[in-house]
This record gives sequence, C-alpha cells and structure tokens, in this order.
Amino acid sequence: MITMWWFIITLAITAFLSSPAYAYDNNPLQDICVAVNDSKASVFVNGKICKDPKFATANDFCFSGLNVGGNAVPGLGLATKLVDVNNMPGLNTLGMSIVRLDLEPQSLFPLHTHPRAAELITVTEGTVYVGFLVSDAINIFKSRLFSKILNPGDVFVFPQGLVHFLYNTGRKKATVLAFFNSQNPGLIAIPSSIFASEPPIVDDVLAKGFQLNKTQIAELRKKFS
Ligand SMILES: *[C@@H]1O[C@H](CO)[C@@H](O)[C@H](O)[C@H]1NC(C)=O
Ligand SMILES: *[C@@H]1O[C@H](CO)[C@@H](O)[C@H](O)[C@H]1NC(C)=O
Repeated sequence: MITMWWFIITLAITAFLSSPAYAYDNNPLQDICVAVNDSKASVFVNGKICKDPKFATANDFCFSGLNVGGNAVPGLGLATKLVDVNNMPGLNTLGMSIVRLDLEPQSLFPLHTHPRAAELITVTEGTVYVGFLVSDAINIFKSRLFSKILNPGDVFVFPQGLVHFLYNTGRKKATVLAFFNSQNPGLIAIPSSIFASEPPIVDDVLAKGFQLNKTQIAELRKKFS
C-alpha cells in the first residue's frame, strides 16, 4: 500500500516537473504561425510572435538560394547557408530547419554540437568522413566514436546534443545538406568556444583541463582568436 502511494506521488511530481517547457520546439498549436518582428501585427505567442494568419503569404513559407553555397568562413575552407526561422519565418513552431555546408578538399567542420537538435545529413557531392561521440555509460570520462565515410546519396544522423565533426577527405569540393529537428538548432564549436571565449577562461583551468602547460595554452588561444 505504502509502495503504491509512493508510486503515485512520484508520478504526480514527475508530471508536474515535466509540464510546459516554454522555450522548446513545441508541436504547433495552430496550422500556421509565421514569425514576425512587429508585435502590433501579431496575434498569438508561441516561440516567436506569430503574424496574424490573415496576412501570411506563400513567401513566408519559401526560401530560395540553397542551390548555391553560403558565405565562406575565413580560415576554415568551408561555407554554410542556414535556413531557419530567422530567414524563413513560416518555419516558426514547426521544429525544423536546413543547412547547406560546402567543404573545400581536406577541410574540416570542427568538433561541435547543436544543443537543441538532432541532425540528419546527406552528401550531394564529394566524400565526407563524419563521426559523433557518445559518452561511455560506465566511465563518463571515456567515449565511443561512431564514424563513417560518406559518398553522394549516403544519409547519416548525429543524435541531439552529441559532439560531432565533418571532414572532406576527398580531392574535390564536398557538399552536404543537413536537416535539424529544431527551428533554431544552435551551434557550439568546441575548440573556439573554449579557447576564444570572451572574457577568457583562466589559464589554470585550461592547463589542468587539457593537461597542457601555459605556453601551449597561450599558443592555442592565439590559433583560435
Ligand atoms: C526581424 O528582425 C531581425 C533582427 O533585427 C532581422 O534580421 C530580420 O530580417 C527581421 N525580419 C523581418 C521579417 O522583418
Ligand atoms: C610546455 O610543453 C611543451 C611540450 O611538451 C614543451 O616543449 C615546453 O618546454 C613546455 N613549456 C613549459 C614552459 O613548461
């Protein structure tokens, strides 16, 4: 009997704690919710403010230009073009977005994570070595690498929040299309977020954290800033 009450109380607490998460990609509460900046022209609030559906147009649900690459990222030999809620307002509350990635030969999209989305990719051109890391359930200070060499037509998925990379191992340009199950997946590039933070993380933390001396830390800071 007591066990059953505990079970019910635990269930009630769990239900309470897992109730509305307002900053999440929710299931849509209405058919359309075109994002709009002007709060006066809006009606509902769910994530971004929604445009009054009367004023929604086909263009709100359309983006053109993914057939060409995006702006090059200096020094990395890559270019990205992201289509998310910010440049395609009809994506608001739909929980999806898409990015095109172009990689020069031997270029790497550095180790990174998308905190709010899993990422489903397909290669349309070239050869790309990809992988993600899963922490070991027994020893959290170890991890397991899941990696693959992908060719055009191959599809691969990086589960939500896990650290991953994409590396063009071929001799020609590679192009990847990636779909996210978030309208705003987020991006944390691991090396630069750690070594080029503003203000900087104190040397001792980085030296101890990476088992390096302060000269090496200074060199890494210089490389990533
Ligand atoms: C909304 O504001 C953002 C940031 O100021 C801007 O980049 C974007 O183009 C605006 N969108 C519309 C539809 O006016
Ligand atoms: C830091 O480590 C590097 C590589 O092990 C070594 O060459 C260098 O002398 C070290 N510097 C200091 C100040 O300990």
